Amino acid sequence: MKIKKAIIPIAGKGTRFLPATKEIAKEIIPIINVPMIHYIVQEAVEAGIEQIIFVTSSGKFSVEDYFDRNLELEAYLERNNKIKELELIRKIGSMVEITSVRQKEQLGLGHAVLMAKNMVEGEPFAVLLGDDIIVNSKPAIKQLMEVSVEKNGAPVIGVMEVPKEDTAKYGIVAGEVLDSRTLKMSEMVEKPNPKDAPTNLATPGRYILTPEIFEILENIPRGAGNEYQLTDAINILCKRKPVYAYKFEGERFDTGNVDGYLDATIDFALKNPETREKFIQSLKYRIKKHGITL
Ligand code: UTP
Repeated sequence: MKIKKAIIPIAGKGTRFLPATKEIAKEIIPIINVPMIHYIVQEAVEAGIEQIIFVTSSGKFSVEDYFDRNLELEAYLERNNKIKELELIRKIGSMVEITSVRQKEQLGLGHAVLMAKNMVEGEPFAVLLGDDIIVNSKPAIKQLMEVSVEKNGAPVIGVMEVPKEDTAKYGIVAGEVLDSRTLKMSEMVEKPNPKDAPTNLATPGRYILTPEIFEILENIPRGAGNEYQLTDAINILCKRKPVYAYKFEGERFDTGNVDGYLDATIDFALKNPETREKFIQSLKYRIKKHGITL
């Protein structure tokens, strides 16, 4: 069965990015000149997703506007013969069908996903978190879709190995190893201390889920941080039916925090031929200017 819909929850407060997120949606903050959310939506579109469902909150209108047409800007660019720019912004405006639903209170990721229940209409769906940019020639979410199809439409959770001392930052999965990349999950634990973590396989925000998850989300109590955790619901789901974890191929940047954002910016500046030389020159000059010895 083809997975056509993706939920992208963007209702969070982005406190790790204050003060910018006081007035700007975190997802619109650009890496060089492309908003972070563009990469997430692009990953979904390249994987064949036809409809994006944003779970939004107040102050996130700019994310919806970004993927809409801007006829006034298009007319301006056309009048001024800026054809390259015109094509670029038209392409963004017609990238994919966007719908949105509000999460009126920020009660956690599990609650945010539940808000989109009526929009996925009983089909398996993808969930992508905007804080994790994953770079790979085959989109990470596409890799999970393929495993899901292979496993008769089962839920599949994207995982990556992290240093054992970092397990408290992530949802961590455990299960029976089926091959070098796939596990049949037995449990998922939210942010365990390294000594309690069953593995070092973390879940950086890529999921293929099935509609049973909504009934679970409707009934779970609040979990870690007094929020409704998607992790808790997946933990229940994998006790009821086969759920797989898949070690996707790709480099992941945690752009939800300033360190990860900086790392992504440097990497993107270096890999783009248009910015590489300028970046290296500037870096050399500034290292010297600030008297830094490497
Ligand atoms: P986070 O808690 O990591 O992100 O949620 P945040 O709230 O945006 O940022 P910080 O932690 O305060 O800096 C992971 C994802 O889930 C969404 C967030 O928007 C983010 O994409 N989310 C989280 C919701 O949509 N609703 C919620 O109630 C909580």
